[in-house]
Amino acid sequence: MRFEPARGLSGELQAPPDKSVSHRAALLGAMASEPVRIDRYLRAADTHSTLDAVRALGALVEDHGDEVVLRGCGLREANEPEGPIDVGNAGTLMRLLPGWLAAQDGRAFMLDGDDSIRRRPVDRIAEPLRQMGAELEATDRRYPPLRVRGAHLRAISWELAVASAQVKSCILLAALAADGATTVGEPARSRDHTERMLLRAGVSIHRHGRHVTVVNADELLLDGVRVPGDASSAAFLITAGVLVPGSRLLIGDVGVNWTRVGFLRILRRMQGIVLGDLEEETGELTAEEPVSDLDVAHGALEGTVVEAEEVPLAIDELPLVALLGCFAEGETVVRGAQELRVKESDRIAGVVEGLRGLGAEIEATDDGFSVRGTGGLKGGTIDARGDHRLAMMGAVAGLASREGVEVVGIETAAVSYPGFTDDLARLC
Ligand code: S3P
Repeated sequence: MRFEPARGLSGELQAPPDKSVSHRAALLGAMASEPVRIDRYLRAADTHSTLDAVRALGALVEDHGDEVVLRGCGLREANEPEGPIDVGNAGTLMRLLPGWLAAQDGRAFMLDGDDSIRRRPVDRIAEPLRQMGAELEATDRRYPPLRVRGAHLRAISWELAVASAQVKSCILLAALAADGATTVGEPARSRDHTERMLLRAGVSIHRHGRHVTVVNADELLLDGVRVPGDASSAAFLITAGVLVPGSRLLIGDVGVNWTRVGFLRILRRMQGIVLGDLEEETGELTAEEPVSDLDVAHGALEGTVVEAEEVPLAIDELPLVALLGCFAEGETVVRGAQELRVKESDRIAGVVEGLRGLGAEIEATDDGFSVRGTGGLKGGTIDARGDHRLAMMGAVAGLASREGVEVVGIETAAVSYPGFTDDLARLC
């Protein structure tokens, strides 16, 4: 698709429902004992894969349009499906679901997905689940397809080598059915939707700094979940609003959980104009997922440095930090982001080669990139490498460029934000 330079984006719209919260709501709904109503479940390829997966495991999914009702199987009663579970392109499903499956004593499950999924490491979840007593097999002990054989689990203490909400969540889900109290430590804070939802479901869960402890439970009781707007999806609209002269946007109902708005803190540091009530870090674990309307306007930007500590809190938005850096005064540097190399694509290579092809002065490092702002981008063609977030970055780059951008190398970018191009067209 081709994206021509825009003359300014204006108007109001709602951010699409949050992908991370939708995945978790469906999984916890399937693990719950009483029906769970999910309001504003995300209708996208990744989250459809999750509904299909929980159906295959025995949960009943009632689809009422705006609301999905899940009648779950309970913590330890998932059925053994006949064939493999297809996670499609959904890394979150591939990493979280085995936590529940590991606790299905004596039953075996096979998980597989598309070509991109088969390149994404699962050893980081297989190792702790093995320690808890489950059996896991993967290609070269590292890549899907992943076979999980459930067991009676024991509690563990586990320190993550890399901050990852997916890995942390997988262990926390397994811990619900393990004997005793499990503690997970992470080198830097990552998104905490799982912890918040478990707290709401009546689980005994506590955070102390970078450690979370969960005590095993008999059942989950979660009556309803309202999915907030997705801050990561909104980030693409926000970037367009900040970069295209004359823009003024109001984006409603955006989830502003502290662990999800690292990108907005970075953007504000770059002098980007984004008004709204972001959640402050309090040190307390809360059950709520706060939302806010965000008011965005075009303005001049300054370069910034993003260090490792901030990376997990803005992980999916780092391609946009690179794009913003092209337009900012001075240099923008991202360090400690080697995780970008194992996302839906190698996002360091994709961002650096992609933006350079549009005229950017950008260099890759092992764990990030540095961009020298040149006041804008010429435009050209960008290869999305089959990665939805690179495709959306290319679209925004096109609107803000001098000559337009053609996005190639992707069949569908609708894995997290199906209405994205329609929303852009409405705002332009
Ligand atoms: C996610 C966590 C992040 C993020 C992904 C969604 C989640 O992955 O990149 O898009 O919902 O837990 P990691 O936990 O691997 O960093």
